[in-house]
Amino acid sequence: MTALTLSTSSAAALRADAVVVGVAKGAKGPEVAPGAEAVDKAYGGKLAATLETLGASGGEGEVTKLPAPAGVKAPVVLAVGLGEPPADGEVYAAEALRKAAGAAARSLSGSKKAVFALPVADAASAEAVAQGALLGAYTYTAYQAKSNGKTPLAEVALVGAKPRDKAYKAAADRAIALADEVNRARDLINMPPNDLHPQEFATVVQAAAKEHGLKVEVLDEKALAKGGYGGILGVGKGSANPPRLVKLSYKTPKAKKHLAFVGKGITYDSGGISLKPAGHNETMKCDMSGAAAVFAAVVAAAKLGLEVNVTGWLALAENMPSGTATRPGDVLRMYSGKTVEVLNTDAEGRLVLADAITRASEEKPDAIVDVATLTGAMVLALGNHIFGIMANDDGFRTAVHDIATEAGEQSWPMPLPVELRKAMDSPTADIANMGERMGGGLAAGLFLKEFVGEGIPWAHLDIAGPAFNESGPFGYTPKGGTGSAVRTLVRLAEKAADGDVL
Ligand code: BES
Ligand code: MN
Ligand code: ZN
Repeated sequence: MTALTLSTSSAAALRADAVVVGVAKGAKGPEVAPGAEAVDKAYGGKLAATLETLGASGGEGEVTKLPAPAGVKAPVVLAVGLGEPPADGEVYAAEALRKAAGAAARSLSGSKKAVFALPVADAASAEAVAQGALLGAYTYTAYQAKSNGKTPLAEVALVGAKPRDKAYKAAADRAIALADEVNRARDLINMPPNDLHPQEFATVVQAAAKEHGLKVEVLDEKALAKGGYGGILGVGKGSANPPRLVKLSYKTPKAKKHLAFVGKGITYDSGGISLKPAGHNETMKCDMSGAAAVFAAVVAAAKLGLEVNVTGWLALAENMPSGTATRPGDVLRMYSGKTVEVLNTDAEGRLVLADAITRASEEKPDAIVDVATLTGAMVLALGNHIFGIMANDDGFRTAVHDIATEAGEQSWPMPLPVELRKAMDSPTADIANMGERMGGGLAAGLFLKEFVGEGIPWAHLDIAGPAFNESGPFGYTPKGGTGSAVRTLVRLAEKAADGDVL
């Protein structure tokens, strides 16, 4: 894990492997961003000109390494593009800072220490730089030989921030807590599915609960059968690795509100008897990304001591085909009592979530938010960078969308058109687990909506697109598990604690 320190030293005076400076895409060529004054001075004021000679433009994500001049202790200066500079009197957008710091940290993997001399005129900017650096430095090497050199940048020293200023101190603490929890989710998502079955996932949650003073309850397959959790059991019964429902609670006496977060935790989605073809199952270890996000968000709420109660519900199962697997045509009796005809065993996420949402509703929380890699249709609709938000309340959906944007996560509101419900009518059960193909992401949302308790505001985040990055890393986003939705959930909890939402 990368360490973060706030330093009062000059960027030029610190002993490190590299100094990171910002370069903006000015109207007349690259411009050195605030924070890099001491470094620019050591170049005789010619840093911008030198960068231009090297072909740098200051565009977002651009990384240029150059030898440091005399007067700078570190041997390398790394100039990272920030895109267009802000208007006069304004600061850089937080997301531009996060992306730049992330790209810089990533290209410094293998190094011990880097000084970040990016523009941090206020605490929010410092938080963005810190968060971007800690997220961008992330690498997943648990299953690789140490010798491959992919060790993350070990230490980030942030200059320009005021370590004794309360606001900066809080910003650094929040950046560390959030980045550590996003990275916790990433680790779980990246873990191979032969080592992370529902049982191991539950054990990981129990250990974290112990460490952070959280209450945890695990329902194993026997308890699930006794409780009548037909959805979770129906999905898990084809696997040699039985399902679990994990309840993780963070409680504080100061809370005025209670949030329930529900995560889809399919540790591997083969499709079941409706088996996925090759080409569609290679990344399906990521199908527990929702549960990972919920787990991480509850721990973050505890670390930050938020004045809101948060209950996380992790619906964990492995979706496998076998002689004991649920067949297309089977009818399940759900925890709610409703019956579901399983037409396609690959539409399993909604089955495990439905049980968890019904269970979460029993505690009458002020809102329920579920997070799930639920449908390929949502990936077709919104692509790989944006998650869809559906809700039973327009105001709450808008609030969650705004909160996601504020947290630096791209999302978009999606409708729940009642017209799609008819295609889920079943001749044998109360509802089928699949409707028409068109608008499949919305049909999944409509299905879930029927399991939400009366009068409870509910939002559904379909993160199937952004949860797992199959292409190259960018900004502060690595290849593989991204930790999508963690920051949105935490920001929502913060807002609920402050009475600014619900
Ligand atoms: N886990 C998948 C959805 C998914 C697709 C996640 C791509 C991440 C990337 C989900 O369980 C699934 O298989 N959904 C089906 C539903 C269909 C059978 C109604 C789908 O989207 O094809
Ligand atoms: Mn599936
Ligand atoms: Zn799935």
